[in-house]
Amino acid sequence: MSNPVQDREDKDRELVDRFGRRVSYLRLSVTDRCDFRCVYCMAEEMKFLPKPQILTLEEMYAVARAFVDLGVEKIRLTGGEPLVRRGILDLVARLGEIPGLNQLVLTTNGSQLTKYAYDLKRFGVKRLNISLDSLQPKRFKELTRTGDLQQVLEGIEAAREAGFQAIKINAVVMRNRNEDEVLSLVEFAREKRLDISFIEEMPLGVISEHSRAEAFMSSADIRQQIGKEYSLAPTLESSGGPSRYYSMPDSKTRIGFISPHSHNFCHLCNRVRLTAEGRLLLCLGNEHSKDLRKVIRAHPGDDAILKQQIIDAMHIKPERHHFELDQEPQIVRFMNMTGG
Ligand code: GTP
Ligand code: 5AD
Ligand code: SF4
Repeated sequence: MSNPVQDREDKDRELVDRFGRRVSYLRLSVTDRCDFRCVYCMAEEMKFLPKPQILTLEEMYAVARAFVDLGVEKIRLTGGEPLVRRGILDLVARLGEIPGLNQLVLTTNGSQLTKYAYDLKRFGVKRLNISLDSLQPKRFKELTRTGDLQQVLEGIEAAREAGFQAIKINAVVMRNRNEDEVLSLVEFAREKRLDISFIEEMPLGVISEHSRAEAFMSSADIRQQIGKEYSLAPTLESSGGPSRYYSMPDSKTRIGFISPHSHNFCHLCNRVRLTAEGRLLLCLGNEHSKDLRKVIRAHPGDDAILKQQIIDAMHIKPERHHFELDQEPQIVRFMNMTGG
């Protein structure tokens, strides 16, 4: 007979890397496609993967299930834009029923939320992260190239009404582009009772739209800007990600800073990523990976082999990322392959 305590201990041991970090969090990119073309994420013209190269939803489910069996407790669905993948709700509904998966969460650009927010909540998604870099329609269009601010704001409202445990806004801040909106974004988050994270842009994929070195805004600069208006107190809270959170005395809104350049958080890394084509990436900032699509397609339905390959992959998880802004990106894949 199975012993729940022993099962738990087995799981705690299995996905541990060479540096003693336990992997408990899988970021699953369900598609590389997106209806936006954010200037920091994509080139203007993008080639997307042909369908046969993308994992089917059934294959994604099988991988997710294997990870949960191995002790993963949190899965974040990302993209591209996860809500443009056809059939996404079916996958969400099935993932929502996996015992042991405590946190099913999703990162989205918000464009499809009026359509999907209610069902996502109903099928078990606990929290949403929604990207929003500007509250000015014209600038929003410039930064996303194709996005419509009004549609995203309506999506955010739909998400609020659906009653998620938490909603977090993600804003990538770029010097001379949207740095003057930091305070407006904080005010927006306070008014709508949302959390907000400010993110330093990462050099993933080659872009020509702007110079990443020139656009760089450190989290410290952003925090200083906010600090002039609001009193910020550091907290020890964590959402299981790299955000460092601050609170304000007169609001429930938490302000997070994701600082891959100025504050290395790799020693606490608890995550791996699965790209839409089934490549298991052991680190966002390195190329170390294992082709799980090959494994699944060579051994359909064989969970034991799949799990063993996942366990073995832990040995190649790198110690840390090294991002250099003034050199050509060392990582040529764009963020839409991995969803961050
Ligand atoms: P939680 O994990 O639930 O806290 O959410 P998150 O804020 O980490 O996830 P989200 O999908 O909202 O991503 C926000 C930003 O964090 C994106 O720009 C990601 O690329 C970045 N990020 C998430 N995980 C990592 C990581 O392991 N390394 C680096 N360098 N950046 C990361
Ligand atoms: N650097 C930092 N964040 C990025 N994102 C996309 N590309 C980049 C990049 N190059 C962010 C999006 C979204 C999250 C998943 O990743 O804004 O909030
Ligand atoms: Fe799409 Fe998100 Fe990339 Fe913007 S950052 S292009 S919304 S995947």
